[in-house]
Amino acid sequence: MRVAKDELKDLMKKKLHKAGLTEEHADGVADVLVHADARGIHSHGAMRVEYYAERIAKGGINTNPNFQFKKTGLSTAVFDGDNGVGHFAAKKAMDEAIKMSKENGIAVVGVKRISHSGSLSYFVQQAAREDLIGLSVCQSDPMVVPFGGAEPYYGTNPIAFAAPGNNGEMITFDMATTVQAWGKILHARSKNESIPNDWAVDKNGEPTTNPFDVNALLPIAGPKGYGLMMMVDVLSGILLGLPFGNKVSSMYHDLTEGRNLGQLHIVINPEYFTSINEFKQNISKTMADLNNIKPAPGFDHVSYPGQRSAEREQKYSEEGIAIVDDIYEYLISDTIHNDQYDNKDPFAK
Ligand code: NAI
Repeated sequence: MRVAKDELKDLMKKKLHKAGLTEEHADGVADVLVHADARGIHSHGAMRVEYYAERIAKGGINTNPNFQFKKTGLSTAVFDGDNGVGHFAAKKAMDEAIKMSKENGIAVVGVKRISHSGSLSYFVQQAAREDLIGLSVCQSDPMVVPFGGAEPYYGTNPIAFAAPGNNGEMITFDMATTVQAWGKILHARSKNESIPNDWAVDKNGEPTTNPFDVNALLPIAGPKGYGLMMMVDVLSGILLGLPFGNKVSSMYHDLTEGRNLGQLHIVINPEYFTSINEFKQNISKTMADLNNIKPAPGFDHVSYPGQRSAEREQKYSEEGIAIVDDIYEYLISDTIHNDQYDNKDPFAK
């Protein structure tokens, strides 16, 4: 079914507030979630609300966190999220990184002790809207086999990047370092659809097309994706003194405990390197250049990174956001959660 963006955000906000978040925090989370749904990233939108509601209701997300922002140098800072809700903490930390990079050219802000923060494009776009380059990486629960391994060690550890062009356009790259994000498996489960056989392996390490049989995900491009997820874990885990590798907390293991996850925002102010007008003009030029590349057989055109999501956003703003009926029914119901996520294995069978 189709739902208008404002209605969807409002329903998610109300549910999260009812589960225990303050109105301010619920609004911040709903804003990140609706951003994902509006861009067609349904794996990180409304379909996660019931899980968050259960974790909030069971105490695994601090509803009254003591956020602490501490500058540790001219361009460095640590934002301690006190295991409050990740989306809101990461958003506040990016606000601080934006301010610092306007003053000093660059900001590196570690966000530590947070819960899941959703789709990272939200945070890097905060920076791009301010004429800055945004980069963000974060830890995720261990569910990926390292290249050559038969058991999970790293998470789907995403990397996001955005840079501003002219007239509010921007280029946005945002990906899990796995062939697919775990949320895409959840989305396939919610729609009872099979998955391609290069996304994941079953408990024997064999490729599987059944989303319910998934026991570990595969890194992108073998050892190269594996190296990228290592880099993300060093920058957003080890650097911040947090649990790392297969000690990163699982999304579903214990919904009564905070997750202690880490994220790192890097914001670069182009004005410290070149003229901002020239920079934005050239970002727009590169976007146009990419669109004008001769398409390969089987392709209509080449899209720049983030273009398809931006087009989806435009389409959904006209037609409403496509939402699975069951998720809408849950959002409009009085139910906070159905007690279905706690103490599940990492793959929540
Ligand atoms: P994806 O595979 O849908 O897209 C990855 C990137 O490729 C995007 O920048 C997209 O614009 C670009 N792209 C895709 N098709 C394209 C095409 N035909 N032409 C040009 N560019 C194209 O994204 P993925 O890896 O499934 O990640 C989905 C979301 O999951 C992201 O928002 C990510 O931040 C989030 N995530 C969050 C985690 C967390 O723990 N917070 C963990 C893992 C992922």
